[in-house]
Amino acid sequence: MATMDRDALYEELNATYFKYKGIYFETEFTSPEVIDAIEHMEIRHGDVFLVTYPKSGTVWTQQILSLILNEGHRNGAEQITNIERAPWIEYNIYNVDFKSRPSPRLFSSHLPYYLLPKDLRFRMGKIIYVSRNPKDVLVSFYHFYNMNPRLKCKIDWEIFIDLFISGKVLSGSWFDHVRGLYTHKEDFDILFLTYEDMKKDLRSNVLKICKFLDISLDDKAIDIVVEKATFKNMKDDSLANYEFIPNELLDKNKGTFLRKGIVGDWKNTMTVAQSEMFDKVFKEKMGDLPMKIMWELNEETAS
Ligand code: A3P
Repeated sequence: MATMDRDALYEELNATYFKYKGIYFETEFTSPEVIDAIEHMEIRHGDVFLVTYPKSGTVWTQQILSLILNEGHRNGAEQITNIERAPWIEYNIYNVDFKSRPSPRLFSSHLPYYLLPKDLRFRMGKIIYVSRNPKDVLVSFYHFYNMNPRLKCKIDWEIFIDLFISGKVLSGSWFDHVRGLYTHKEDFDILFLTYEDMKKDLRSNVLKICKFLDISLDDKAIDIVVEKATFKNMKDDSLANYEFIPNELLDKNKGTFLRKGIVGDWKNTMTVAQSEMFDKVFKEKMGDLPMKIMWELNEETAS
């Protein structure tokens, strides 16, 4: 498949995405009106919002949360897809009626902190925020973009790095997304998780989530959550692996949503020079944050 030059790519991207309030969205699946209405969405106390920047482990955490909230996927949850169990507030493609959903409601979102429902800022509802080493996010996002059936040519990797660093991708800048929620964390009732930590010890992260949500599951139920959320089992689970998304939305001939599921895959794609340049940008943009570095940016590849 041919790659496209920068101008041709920008033209195609402009036709596919729109920019609103600093963020790029999929034109086909949402609108400025939908984004504006989210601010006033009515929040209930038991609501749980999974908020992430794309490619940070959202679908994985959707699976974990829906298993926790539905005690291992019972009561009908075993028959519906991840997207219906944890609908996207900005991309409600199945037209789920949020108001008629029984509590505790589970939602997903890639919105930055300032576009989330206002009530969340008053600590109504809980947020689980998952972040991931941005180099792995970048690689995963690149493959995801190339599964977009609306783009006629393959995106050049170098160009995609530029787009990612300058925030000209869906959901905007990774740096702003993470910084935004981190620096406003006092406004929200929020639990921060990382993809890498979940890979290292999923069980302890499941327990952490249960504690945060005030849910007590016995050991056997926790085992079921961990078991059903492994990469391999999710890959085989047709309701969880996003293979159910039609090819017109995501072209599965060009790749799979659950691609590799490992830490450090960036080492297989980025050159030393690209990695060093990225480290420099990371330091400039995130270096002042009083947070422990959440990722060892040069972490070893691990499966
Ligand atoms: P890779 O492309 O690096 O494989 P999101 O759901 O936020 O779009 O993130 C997608 C990334 O999460 C993909 O990363 C995907 O493979 C990975 N992922 C999904 N389910 C996973 C699981 N159970 N364990 C580990 N990684 C998973």
